[in-house]
Amino acid sequence: MKLNSYKTPKHVAIIMDGNGRWALKKSLPRIRGHIHGVQAVRRTIKAAKKFGIKYLTLYAFSTENWKRDEKEIKFLFSLLKEYLRKERESFIKNRIKFLTIGNIQKLPQDIQNEIKSLKKATSGFRDFFLILALNYGARDEIIRAIRKVLKKKKIGDLKKSFENSLDTAKIPDPDLIIRTSGEKRLSNFLLYQGAYSELYFTKTLWPDFDEEALSKAILVYKRRKRRFGGY
Ligand code: IPE
Ligand code: IPE
Ligand code: MG
Repeated sequence: MKLNSYKTPKHVAIIMDGNGRWALKKSLPRIRGHIHGVQAVRRTIKAAKKFGIKYLTLYAFSTENWKRDEKEIKFLFSLLKEYLRKERESFIKNRIKFLTIGNIQKLPQDIQNEIKSLKKATSGFRDFFLILALNYGARDEIIRAIRKVLKKKKIGDLKKSFENSLDTAKIPDPDLIIRTSGEKRLSNFLLYQGAYSELYFTKTLWPDFDEEALSKAILVYKRRKRRFGGY
């Protein structure tokens, strides 16, 4: 089949969904799904780098995920803390710049410290950007951006000013948004930036996601025709 002229997407964003159902299928507690989900994160970063993707955004915790049991939330944050600590060496070795989107000021202080520390340690890198969406919600991001714009003495070009106030300032719009687990919705993810993103849904549950699953998504992307309102 003739592939479209599209190159590898520059920015891939993933809604990592299905950890709970993965565990349920195996009669395991939900948290086991999250533990295996971390392995899928490691595999996906490695594969994304290998395929020449420059920006990888992973939706890890939404502004709506606070609705979950306190126990599960606590476990997710302990897992995140462990991940941020353990990955430090590998991020430096692989020249990965670590960034976040979402309101991290609302996260537990120890997590904020880990985030700050990893950002600092990787701030000089430009080869690959790993962006974790933490306490992220597009509606919340947009409202926070508007607040920032309103605080400015001189707004100037409103579009520019607004976009520079989003958490994704300096990050290109996602070319491809992937959602695992078979759900077909965006769940408050990159609603402004994803205006022209290609969407790809797979039934694969997040803990099973791997290099092959990512390569399939990229292949589908390459066959798409992006028009951006033109021809
Ligand atoms: C995604 O898996 C991880 C987070 C949202 C933190 P879920 O925990 O949503 O898994 P399901 O959707 O219940 O299977
Ligand atoms: C979306 O998954 C958020 C993350 C993957 C972090 P959810 O499981 O929270 O989404 P809904 O509730 O099914 O829409
Ligand atoms: Mg889910």
